[in-house]
Amino acid sequence: MAGRIPQQFIDDLMQRVDIVEVIDSRVPLKKAGREYTACCPFHNEKTPSFTVSPSKQFFHCFGCGAHGTALGFLMDYEHLDFVEAVEELARSVGLEVPREAGRGDDTQRSQNTLLYELHMEAARYFQRMLREHPRAASAVEYLKGRGLSGEIARDFGLGYAPPGWDNLLNTLGRDPARRRALAAGGLAIQKDNGELYDRFRDRIMFPIHDRRGRIIGFGGRVLEEDDAQGSANAAGGRMPGAAGPKYLNSPETPIFHKGRELYGLFEARKQVRQLDRLLVVEGYMDVVALAQFGVRNAVATLGTATTSEHLEQLFRVVPEVVFCFDGDRAGLQAAWRALENALPVLREGREARFLFLPEGEDPDSFIRKEGAEIFRERAANAIPFSDFFFEHLAGAVDMDSIDGRARLVEKAKPLLTQLQPGIFRRMMVHQLERLAALPAGELAGLTGEDGATARAPRAMPPDRAGRDGLSPVRHLVALLLQHPELASRLDNPDLLRRVRRPGADLLVELIEYLQVNPHVTTGGVLEHWRGSEAGRHLARLATQRLDLDQNRIEHEFDAYAELLLQEARREQAAARLRYLESRRPSEWSEAERQEHMELIQGFKRPPGSRGEG
Ligand code: UTP
Ligand code: MN
Repeated sequence: MAGRIPQQFIDDLMQRVDIVEVIDSRVPLKKAGREYTACCPFHNEKTPSFTVSPSKQFFHCFGCGAHGTALGFLMDYEHLDFVEAVEELARSVGLEVPREAGRGDDTQRSQNTLLYELHMEAARYFQRMLREHPRAASAVEYLKGRGLSGEIARDFGLGYAPPGWDNLLNTLGRDPARRRALAAGGLAIQKDNGELYDRFRDRIMFPIHDRRGRIIGFGGRVLEEDDAQGSANAAGGRMPGAAGPKYLNSPETPIFHKGRELYGLFEARKQVRQLDRLLVVEGYMDVVALAQFGVRNAVATLGTATTSEHLEQLFRVVPEVVFCFDGDRAGLQAAWRALENALPVLREGREARFLFLPEGEDPDSFIRKEGAEIFRERAANAIPFSDFFFEHLAGAVDMDSIDGRARLVEKAKPLLTQLQPGIFRRMMVHQLERLAALPAGELAGLTGEDGATARAPRAMPPDRAGRDGLSPVRHLVALLLQHPELASRLDNPDLLRRVRRPGADLLVELIEYLQVNPHVTTGGVLEHWRGSEAGRHLARLATQRLDLDQNRIEHEFDAYAELLLQEARREQAAARLRYLESRRPSEWSEAERQEHMELIQGFKRPPGSRGEG
């Protein structure tokens, strides 16, 4: 969407800015040894676990796991997107952001700017109509009837789209470009003959904000009660067209992506200084009604299931997410779908829980009946992820029989492997072992930690073999990220491409990049790989605690590197051997015959005793 900024510029920018300055001007830092600390701005805490490393140009919170570069910090803290954060950083060091072949992109950017503007104007228009339009009385009545105060309506920017086909079009569509943009933004709909008409008519309007507070779409509700819907069309005296679904939402547009946006997140962040938990509910009305009762930390998906992307966003703001569902079958199904989508984003420090309301109740009706106290208590006692996970699976099998427990394991397997490797996943695997009455460690293969380390710790170098659960490749990558200068210790990294282990190619690319850019910091490396699959692996490893004695870092690096180099040499030798043996021995030269002998003998010797390079 945004203009392409040359990678070289971002690399340079990361060299110029100092993360300590960037963060300190927003969250005052205290010096502590070689690093700086503060109370984490991304979660609620009393003792500082947020640290900023000037040498790595990287921040990390040991409490909530937030981490990243100066750019990442700006994106999260100021709610900027990537391009905006780059622009902000560039401005702070007096640089102009260059653009590659920017024409197409620029048009898209200015088109988006117009869309944002029109959405804001539309929201203001709808709000004015709620106050002034002759027919708005029924809308105000409706909102009052649902228990909403004028104050809450204002907090959420609620409005009213009057009946009629072209109110908004006539008010905002002053020129053809704006009319086209109204259609592109989904506020107007184009007929086959090219004419436009207003999408939202005679509806209560809920503006949807993005993280930065820009309005990107709307939800519109009819004024009838749920069950009155059938008769809505026939209701006398109504101006054209509010009939149709109870809620109408903006369609997907260049600025509105339902799989990514959450209704109420901006409002919650604005209202609550320190959020520590967010509730995910199903409807606009649930969010607004909960707020009316003082529960200001609810968000809703936009008529879609909760995606992993939604959850990733939520966990960037809070460590705990509680899903609220109706206690009926449909609610249970939706909860299970949410659980499945949560698997890839969960890990230690991120908690997901489930709140099931009595059948037929949604948060709006429940809090009205039972009050905020009881609702809060229920939210605080919501079912933990692991309980819901195992209870749901165990409920479908006979846990008293061996066959049933074996089925439990089979059902859990594909789900558990979607969790990121780490403590949380190991704990889930242990729990599965307990429930299935298997000996501890039986399902170690499910932990996702490298088989080599898990099964054969002896094969690992020095005493710290695999203690942190990392494979040698990942261990080296983590070491390099945290001490980029180590890269100069290898003179033939390309040889490592022969290692048949996941991540070996990335390891080699990283070493080569670091050798060419010896002064790059951890932050610089992460920005170089931003947005790619590799970048995500790197970011994870950059925060891995290695628990290393500072004096042993080089030793450790050399030992792991040597282990891999040996594997690489064996692979190289094996390949050479395969090549020679693919030809007839009678075609071999004398040198090749000699080489063949040596290769064969090399393979007979115990691995690792080969001296040559
Ligand atoms: P619900 O029907 O549960 O809505 O739909 P609700 O929030 O309880 O509505 P009230 O209480 O009757 O006002 C939940 C969500 O599903 C989407 C909307 O996002 C809604 O908030 N939805 C529902 C639609 O998009 N279209 C519809 O026709 C109905
Ligand atoms: Mn409802």
